[in-house]
Amino acid sequence: MLRVESLSRSFGGVAALEEIDLAVADGEVVGLIGPNGSGKTTLFNVITGVHPVDSGRVLLRGEDITDQAPARIVRRGIARTFQNLRIFRRMSVHENVWVAQHSLPGVGPMTLLSGRSAGERARRAEVDGLLDAVGLADRRDALAGSLPLPDQRRLELARALARSPALLLLDEPAGGMTPAETAEMAALIRDFAVPGRTCIVIEHKLDLISALCQRLCVLNFGRKIADGAPQEVLQQSDVLEAYLGRDAGDA
Ligand SMILES: Nc1ncnc2c1ncn2[C@@H]1O[C@H](COP(=O)(O)OP(=O)(O)O)[C@@H](O)[C@H]1O
Ligand SMILES: [Mg+2]
Repeated sequence: MLRVESLSRSFGGVAALEEIDLAVADGEVVGLIGPNGSGKTTLFNVITGVHPVDSGRVLLRGEDITDQAPARIVRRGIARTFQNLRIFRRMSVHENVWVAQHSLPGVGPMTLLSGRSAGERARRAEVDGLLDAVGLADRRDALAGSLPLPDQRRLELARALARSPALLLLDEPAGGMTPAETAEMAALIRDFAVPGRTCIVIEHKLDLISALCQRLCVLNFGRKIADGAPQEVLQQSDVLEAYLGRDAGDA
């Protein structure tokens, strides 16, 4: 599904990513972990076209998508959530999802105006179905900015899923959540977001990661230091050092 080849990206003198290789198979759920500043979000930003690469390639189903515009990459089937949420705070919950859905091809300005067409009715039903699934049906008319943080993260997930992505990139989907909220988010991702998709999840919380992922990839200072089954990766001494040495209290 996704292949990243020898990808490098620096900001000024800081090498955020150094020669990263990563292959993710169709249907796989991969956890991307590593201390703060190790390059996890930058990897998502480069895959989704937010930042250009310095060198290397990104292939989606074998096609080179390196440095394509973000909107084009979304249309090719990659959607993401953001560590720092990117919802429209002054729009209602359902409008937020509806707007995300309408970034897809075949849904142009005319369909927005002809709200009574059969296709548009089906899309509105789909929005309501997504809100129901993420547990926000009863908040559909609330302003997105008025929601508590866990609900804002659920809304971001619904917005990403509204784009029907084949590859879903989740950047700290349980960031700022309590252990109970994190467990709920893990169940929602596992039961609703993951089936039928390929997924990469950035997360510090190992309980969420171990509930979801068959494979872990570890970054440290922009380099990949481990990639494999979670129980093996989490026994590797350099992984433990990177984690416990610099980041133990971070989750
Ligand atoms: N837009 C940017 N401009 C400058 N430096 C950046 C930018 N994005 C990331 N960095 C730097 O790249 C490194 C990796 O950051 P990031 O990918 O956000 O790490 P992580 O998500 O693993 O915490 C950090 O040193 C960070 O300061
Ligand atoms: Mg990050």
